Amino acid sequence: MKNIVLSFLLILAVSSMTLSHKIIGTCYKDKNSLRNSQYFTLECSASNSINIYSRNENITSAEAYIAPNDIKELKKKLVSFDKVDGFKFVMNEIRYFPKGIERFFTNLVALTVEYSNLQEIKQVDLKPFPKLIFLNLSVNMLKIIEKDLFKFNPLLQAIDLTNNIIKEIDGNVFEGLNSLNSLKISMNLCVQVNAVGRKNVENFIKELKIFCKKKEQKFILDEKKGTKFNWRKYFWIILISGTSAVVFLIYGLFKILMTVKVAPKNEKLSVCDPQSQQELKNNVWI
Ligand SMILES: *[C@@H]1O[C@H](CO)[C@@H](O)[C@H](O)[C@H]1NC(C)=O
Ligand SMILES: *[C@@H]1O[C@H](CO)[C@@H](O)[C@H](O)[C@H]1NC(C)=O
Repeated sequence: MKNIVLSFLLILAVSSMTLSHKIIGTCYKDKNSLRNSQYFTLECSASNSINIYSRNENITSAEAYIAPNDIKELKKKLVSFDKVDGFKFVMNEIRYFPKGIERFFTNLVALTVEYSNLQEIKQVDLKPFPKLIFLNLSVNMLKIIEKDLFKFNPLLQAIDLTNNIIKEIDGNVFEGLNSLNSLKISMNLCVQVNAVGRKNVENFIKELKIFCKKKEQKFILDEKKGTKFNWRKYFWIILISGTSAVVFLIYGLFKILMTVKVAPKNEKLSVCDPQSQQELKNNVWI
């Protein structure tokens, strides 16, 4: 009896997790309206229509329509999924990366999840997209970029992670990406770098590796350090100006002491002419 109740509860729990999600994409074919048309030719976007609050929630159905160019075309035109090579989620509540997109859109080379509160991204999320060349996850809540995140996406050319709260990046994460020529990670807690062009990307990856080695393979700074004054950068300036300030102070003190010894108060007064003596008196009495 106990077993039956338990399995009933289990089934209930599992089925309550099996939420169905439908994505309805509006697709843009016009090359001029596509910001990243060097990476894809037909991008569909789902905005304000899908909420994903836990891991393993699946996309269970999808529709994609060409955005009408003018009023006459308002009748919706379905697009066949295999023509779509870019997909974008914008302004949704997508805390976890949606599963199952690849079952509908089989030819994706570009993926974007922006302004969507995405909290984590894992290797398994990107594994279904071996042809991925463009990934934009900007303006989300990502904290950690884990090791081997892009292991199954070796063709990536552009990655945008700006405007998250990243404070931990594995030093080797961009290592195998030999075609990567745009890497944007500014506006995060720890890394503030945008590298465009293969050379800059290579330099940045090198820097990241060196830095991460020092910090036990990880690029970690706590939240405060990210925004606080960087002492290390100004070490020499602080050292030199600090030392000279101390030297001047000691010299000044020494001078004062010497003056006091060499010229006691009375003698000093007597050397003055009557007028300034009067002034001195006035000053004293005021
Ligand atoms: C999502 O789909 C996968 C693959 O079809 C399946 O194994 C998994 O159980 C599904 N998850 C949910 C919560 O429906
Ligand atoms: C990624 O999306 C953001 C937000 O829309 C945009 O500003 C940025 O230009 C995109 N990045 C790339 C590389 O296109």
